[in-house]
Amino acid sequence: MAKVLVLYASLTGSTEVMAETISDYIKNQNHEVDFKSFDFEPIPAKELVNYDGILFGSYSWDDDIPFEVEDFYQDMDDVDLSGKLVGTFGSCDSYYDIYGPALDTLASKSEERNATIYEEKLKVELEPDDQDIEHCEKFAAGFLQQLATK
Ligand SMILES: Cc1cc2nc3c(=O)[nH]c(=O)nc-3n(C[C@H](O)[C@H](O)[C@H](O)COP(=O)(O)O)c2cc1C
Repeated sequence: MAKVLVLYASLTGSTEVMAETISDYIKNQNHEVDFKSFDFEPIPAKELVNYDGILFGSYSWDDDIPFEVEDFYQDMDDVDLSGKLVGTFGSCDSYYDIYGPALDTLASKSEERNATIYEEKLKVELEPDDQDIEHCEKFAAGFLQQLATK
């Protein structure tokens, strides 16, 4: 059984739906999941070391991460994520010049802190539809598969 953190930021609820779908899938596969939001239940970045797998969910804001993720992002500089698998997902909007930049920023930082990066970054256009929900489950399944082979 793996211990997984799902930590997300969502302003209008789309990334939250993705986070819930991913978290439920992982729980149903009998793994332990801590489900937290950057807004309401932030955890100190140093607690990332307590997990085997970490899934960051975030919407994007003006070509980057949202403001409620900024402190955590800076605190990641003091954390060593060696041996951890990190995945990223979030709702995006193709109206903007850069599509889902928050996911790329969080993945780059995690890589810089020595994490292994789960290759697929799951970017969904605005509100997830049924097909997107299925995609969230496949994303979670692939993440667990990679976690099992680590
Ligand atoms: C001021 C502002 C800036 C945004 N900037 C970006 C951006 O640079 N790239 C992007 O893909 N989406 C951007 N978005 C769109 C959000 O990522 C999108 O609305 C998303 O669906 C919100 O997800 P949520 O429902 O989880 O909050 C921006 C939205 C706002 C309001």
